[in-house]
Amino acid sequence: MSDREVVEGSTRFFIPEQDENSSFPPGSAPVFYNPRMRLNRDSTNYLLRHLDVSSYLDAMAASGVRGLRVAHECGIPVTINDLSPEATALIRKNAALYPESDITVTEDDCRAVMLRQRFDVVDLDPFGTPAPFVDIAATSARRYLFVTATDTAPLCGAHLKAGIRRYGARPMNTEYHSEVGLRLLLGFVLRETAKYDRGIEPLFCFAREHFVRLHLRMTGGAGRADKALRNIGYIHQCPACPWRMTETAFLPTVQECPECGAKMSRIGPLWTGPINSPEILSQIAADLEADGMGESVLARLVTLLDEELPTPAFYNYHQLARHWRISPSPADDVIAAIQDAGYQASRTHYDGRGIKTDAPLHVLRGAVATKR
Ligand SMILES: C[S@@+](CC[C@H](N)C(=O)[O-])C[C@H]1O[C@@H](n2cnc3c(N)ncnc32)[C@H](O)[C@@H]1O
Ligand SMILES: [Zn+2]
Repeated sequence: MSDREVVEGSTRFFIPEQDENSSFPPGSAPVFYNPRMRLNRDSTNYLLRHLDVSSYLDAMAASGVRGLRVAHECGIPVTINDLSPEATALIRKNAALYPESDITVTEDDCRAVMLRQRFDVVDLDPFGTPAPFVDIAATSARRYLFVTATDTAPLCGAHLKAGIRRYGARPMNTEYHSEVGLRLLLGFVLRETAKYDRGIEPLFCFAREHFVRLHLRMTGGAGRADKALRNIGYIHQCPACPWRMTETAFLPTVQECPECGAKMSRIGPLWTGPINSPEILSQIAADLEADGMGESVLARLVTLLDEELPTPAFYNYHQLARHWRISPSPADDVIAAIQDAGYQASRTHYDGRGIKTDAPLHVLRGAVATKR
């Protein structure tokens, strides 16, 4: 099988040639490459420009595109690893295109690599769930841990039992399931980290299409781990009405819906704190603008993340309108009406029809029906 040359960012590399008719799913090729994950990789490179890093592990590399791009575009020494001999053969061929970069290629189970060696950044990009790899990554990552998860069905509650098995938490398939997935994964990573007396600080995290991407700073010491654990809590969702509330506490206490009296359903434990650093987002936004990428999909994502309230559980306001049998106003009008009533409100990156707010339901109802 021949290889085809592709370009991402300023990096050229080879991927296996695929028959156009059998190119889906992307995993059907001997070595995996999914062009739709480019935004995921771009986001990491923009973040790395602002971190002082001198070693990076691409733990599950396939073609090696992530590590190659980090080495070539960010000038960081990288180790690029994969378990598969076909993948490492391709990675070696790709690394040879960049003799000036500091690239080490290894063929091993990434858990063995992470047990042997520590890296400033560990990046996990598995097929599906990262759950089996996070424990050892939490000990290998000296300063930063990056994680992709593509098992959105278990994370978001569509496959409830698998979600509970993998993440030791209870998801639920709600209108804000993508946010539940991201926060459940964050909660899991924190528990895996805290047992080693380390904490996490989310820098740049988002959910998109079929994946969740986390970029986390690792913090050291029992005190920092305890501090991070103060972001663990639950979302209480009413099964009878649209009300939901967030409780930040290690053990849940809320029982009944204050709006209608029904027994609330619990989602969690999960991370209830901020998922981004506003400083990092504004630095990335400025870089994108300077690169002439101010109108790119990544720039739009960063803008939405920056606007988004840091609190959990957005509403889909079209769903609310259906529930109340009213016709919805445009999102900007709904948000303005909530703010006029004295409450916080924002759009959200998870869903074009998503609104985050701390307003009670009667205010929300008035705002969804508002006529401007
Ligand atoms: C989703 S692909 C990686 C995609 C790649 N990072 C990219 O951005 O295109 C997952 C890769 O992990 C490798 N893999 C699976 N289990 C592994 C393990 N335990 N250690 C190292 N690599 C593993 C597979 O061979 C596969 O190439
Ligand atoms: Zn209720």
